[in-house]
Amino acid sequence: MVFRDPDLNIADTIEALLPDYRILADLYLEKTPEDQGFPFHTDFDSIGFMERPEDMLTVWIPLTPVKEAGSGRLSIVMEEGAVRLSLIREANQLHSLVRIADPSVPEHPPFQITHQEYDYMEKGKVTSALDAGDALLFCNAFFHKSEDVYQGKRAAYIMRLVPKDAKFSKTRLLALRKLGQNLAVVEELLKTHYPEAL
Ligand SMILES: [Fe+2]
Repeated sequence: MVFRDPDLNIADTIEALLPDYRILADLYLEKTPEDQGFPFHTDFDSIGFMERPEDMLTVWIPLTPVKEAGSGRLSIVMEEGAVRLSLIREANQLHSLVRIADPSVPEHPPFQITHQEYDYMEKGKVTSALDAGDALLFCNAFFHKSEDVYQGKRAAYIMRLVPKDAKFSKTRLLALRKLGQNLAVVEELLKTHYPEAL
């Protein structure tokens, strides 16, 4: 977890800018021309254990300039129609997680984005030009996607911020532990909030 390195001063910077949030996790991502474009998505997958996953914020920091087509820019859709759609997807994913912990919950058909919905998001997306080291902050009720990289490599450092008073679901934390997903964060949260469950 790079943000814990005191020399980088990242935690203090976030504390000064967003005093109601704390950094929960981080990751480093590289993208090359060989990587398939990752379609529109939200990051609920990594924070399905929150009572309100849509409250999570992502800080996306390109480590290489992303200014023109082919540089691997990030596109975000902020239209209300897309936000509502992302919440339907979230409800669907949370339901699946609950089912993992409790198989007596009946199955529900998986969430799928239709062609019309995809076109709607393509039309409404906002694609920012950023320099290396700039930061893009967005809420995770926004669908987003990484645009293509034509050559070389795009690198990005990403942080997940959660409200300091965020509540976490024991059922879903245990389900994620069962799936082996996000284990470092899941174990830490279980130890802090539900030590009896370990
Ligand atoms: Fe994402």
